[in-house]
Amino acid sequence: LAGKTPEEVVKKYLQKVKSPPEEDCTICMEPLGGPSGYKGPGVGPVSKAESVGRLTQCGHQYHFQCLVAMYNNGNKDGSLQCPTCKTIYGVKTGNQPAGKMEYHVIPHSLPGHPDCKSIRIIYNIPPGIQGPEHPNPGKPFTARGFPRHCYLPDSEKGRKVLRLLLVAWDRRLIFSVGTSSTTGESDTVIWNEVHHKTEFGSNLTGHGFPDPGHLDNVLEELRAQGITEEDALVE
Ligand code: APR
Ligand code: ZN
Repeated sequence: LAGKTPEEVVKKYLQKVKSPPEEDCTICMEPLGGPSGYKGPGVGPVSKAESVGRLTQCGHQYHFQCLVAMYNNGNKDGSLQCPTCKTIYGVKTGNQPAGKMEYHVIPHSLPGHPDCKSIRIIYNIPPGIQGPEHPNPGKPFTARGFPRHCYLPDSEKGRKVLRLLLVAWDRRLIFSVGTSSTTGESDTVIWNEVHHKTEFGSNLTGHGFPDPGHLDNVLEELRAQGITEEDALVE
């Protein structure tokens, strides 16, 4: 996919729509029957035949040009996500900076999981300079509170979550660079959309145990990033 142009990537996930419905494109809010409302750099003329497309799996329809603009706004990894229903086409990756993920089993039980040991994950990301995939390329970013320690029960489901988190790490989806909602600091490493438990024996922050729904919630959050059990089997 590296060699594909944005237009080629988008086209791969689209079926042609001969007669667009009398609806608005929810990306630009202009009628699908008319031209894309997106006027930005890199918008060339398009033939009528490719002006509207239907995403192959979910069926949502958009101006071709609007999808290309959306793709260009992201990190151009060859994947596309439907802005309406979040269906992911291809393999979604993020902009997590370089760093290290390690884990080991510790011989203690977490509150709510008395019958098993625990897994401690240690994330370490040093500060650095933002790349083109970050909000302010060329500007430094900070990295607070690293190494960050996180916990899972060493149960069957906990180990499954760990396997999927390893996939998420490889796809750069665990952290991102942006503004911390806790501290308000901008240009810093922040948790992405997958919740981690950072407290072991206490629950002062709300990111501790017990929390009976936690593993299922994380599996759901991973699914929303396009990561399911099949991914853990192949990688
Ligand atoms: N532990 C785990 N998750 C957290 C924590 C925490 N202490 N604080 C916030 N989150 C979750 C939030 O619920 C949200 O979903 O991370 C997501 C992003 O929140 P931000 O505040 O933007 O993230 P960040 O700045 O990375 O985290 C703040 O987390 O691990 C600690 O040392 C870190 O104190 C810092 C805190
Ligand atoms: Zn549009």
